[in-house]
Amino acid sequence: VPVDPFDLIVFGATGDLARRKLIPALYHRFRDGQMPDGARVVGVARSDMGEEEYLRTVDSALTEFVEPERLDPETRRRFLSCMGYQQIDAGGELGWEMLKTRLDASDRPVRAFYLSVAPHLFEPIAARTHALGIADERFRLVVEKPFGHDLATARALNRSLSARFPETQIYRIDHYLGKETVQNLMALRFANTLFEPLWNGHHIDHVQITVAETVGITGRGQYYDGVGAMRDMVQNHLLQLLCLVAMEPPARFDPDAVRDEKLKVLRSLAPVTDPLHVVRGQYRCGSRTPSYHDEAERPDSRTESFVALRAEVSNWRWAGVPFYLRTGKRLRSRMSEIVVQFKEAPHSIFRSRSRHPGPNVLCIRLQPNEGIKLGLTIKDPGPGGMRLAPAELDMTFDATLREHGLRMPDAYERLVMDVMRGDQTLFMRGDEVEAAWAWVDPIIADWEDRKDRPHPYDPGSSGPEDALMLLHRDRRRWREIE
Ligand code: BG6
Repeated sequence: VPVDPFDLIVFGATGDLARRKLIPALYHRFRDGQMPDGARVVGVARSDMGEEEYLRTVDSALTEFVEPERLDPETRRRFLSCMGYQQIDAGGELGWEMLKTRLDASDRPVRAFYLSVAPHLFEPIAARTHALGIADERFRLVVEKPFGHDLATARALNRSLSARFPETQIYRIDHYLGKETVQNLMALRFANTLFEPLWNGHHIDHVQITVAETVGITGRGQYYDGVGAMRDMVQNHLLQLLCLVAMEPPARFDPDAVRDEKLKVLRSLAPVTDPLHVVRGQYRCGSRTPSYHDEAERPDSRTESFVALRAEVSNWRWAGVPFYLRTGKRLRSRMSEIVVQFKEAPHSIFRSRSRHPGPNVLCIRLQPNEGIKLGLTIKDPGPGGMRLAPAELDMTFDATLREHGLRMPDAYERLVMDVMRGDQTLFMRGDEVEAAWAWVDPIIADWEDRKDRPHPYDPGSSGPEDALMLLHRDRRRWREIE
């Protein structure tokens, strides 16, 4: 779908997300000819810097975060000529009138504000935007996470936004929805007839969703320590993945049809009442890495950097199928995947000497090595009789793309352009965010009541022992983090 010329105003333009993700994403889209002629991106921040100085920071972000083979001087120069800077005090008066004058002079048919700022600034920016009459029918507001700290704050934020803008103008980002393989999960489920008849508790034994990271909380200890893995990752990214696995087929691939189905899943999640069904962890120091406590600079912190839990979707399709979720920092490797494990074959016709290698497993790999693999059992080739062996149908996208000189786009490339196209399918609706908090809140409240302390784990491991036990008790095993 072609994109109309736009004014994109990025609040927090000198911040980490803008440098690492947004600017490179816009550059890639520009380079591939998908940014329309006449589009303009204005970085907004509090720093008193001139346009030239800002463009230098953009240029250095390109050098740092774009593959050198995609950086030719001419494209770079043309890209920079679409960018501008405006000093604004988001919570005060400074700069707003200038921004209004700039926008009043523009006849571009799309106008988006991207809020990549601390959450306490969402409200003042929304209020000012509304008061100055900037938010006409061309307007879209993109809100980064965290969207609230709990149900009450998320509700308050939703209320304050919806008092000023219709839901169709609010784009709540969860960048996991923009990841290529996550979108592919929807194609896999709803564009093929193969899986859907088997996609239920009669045929699926359980689902595992893992988002493992090797990074710690370096540089963001202050933010992270007030949040923890449950709020930082589970409430949004992992629950969104769970929704895409568990939802009913929507009638259409359109924003409300998809989000209605995800909402039903969130509302079907059974409350987690058994403390044994949630495990929290916190990393110790390693031979070369500091401990969580050192990085958070709070020796008595009870915040978790790891969480594993057993969730249940209480409806007909999923009754009796556990969804095991886990995520953590400083784990063995960076790996995000969704594993759908089917049930064992009901009866083996083969003699016992050919041991069955195990049930079918569908593995949807988000990163790295994006792709989908289906584990099957085949006959071990050769004349040695009927011996069974495991084999994989392997669709590793990255390798295939590379072979053809193509690249895997970053999630933000897709999402930023969806905002400009006015497509909210891959953004969270207000009620979805609230339903996710409504499930997460009591789990966190229970930890607080019990003054629960996370279990220490070694950096480079797969998390605390108890996380392994969570599955062992159910006679199951996590897939290796590798
Ligand atoms: C962010 C979290 O939303 O997602 C970070 O705040 C986390 O703590 C990041 O590191 C992971 O994103 P990705 O795309 O690198 O898997």
